[in-house]
Amino acid sequence: MANDDPLITGHPLLDEEHRPLKQALERLDSGCATPLRSCTDCPLHHRHQCQSDLDEILTMLFGLVIDHFRKEELLMRKLPDNSSTDAHRENHQVAHADIAERLRRLVQAAHPDTIRTSTKALHDLVSEWLGRHIVDCDLPFHTLLAEHHLH
Ligand SMILES: [Fe+2]
Repeated sequence: MANDDPLITGHPLLDEEHRPLKQALERLDSGCATPLRSCTDCPLHHRHQCQSDLDEILTMLFGLVIDHFRKEELLMRKLPDNSSTDAHRENHQVAHADIAERLRRLVQAAHPDTIRTSTKALHDLVSEWLGRHIVDCDLPFHTLLAEHHLH
């Protein structure tokens, strides 16, 4: 089957779980309805709407982090131990912990006066997750799974 999308790993479980990330990115991409200089210049009802949109996306992403990372890390443990699988497991888990920590910090920093900044930071995080994480971690993981017949 042709695969034109570099972010499609070909592994049904991984691809299924990356889909909500693409949806989150589309929502974050939809941008600010009233692009003023600062959120503090924006009417309060808009700020509250932005805050609730951001909270919803953050909650969804947290659910995904817990579920998706846990599933990947369980699958990783099925790989036999050798220098390349050990190195992969270590790097991939560190990358997951980094994403989780950055999400946690974004939740802590979320404030109605700085929603646009938080939205931009979250957009960057999801873009990196969908780009670099998939290319550097999930695709090599997919290859290792295939090599060990763990599909
Ligand atoms: Fe991953």
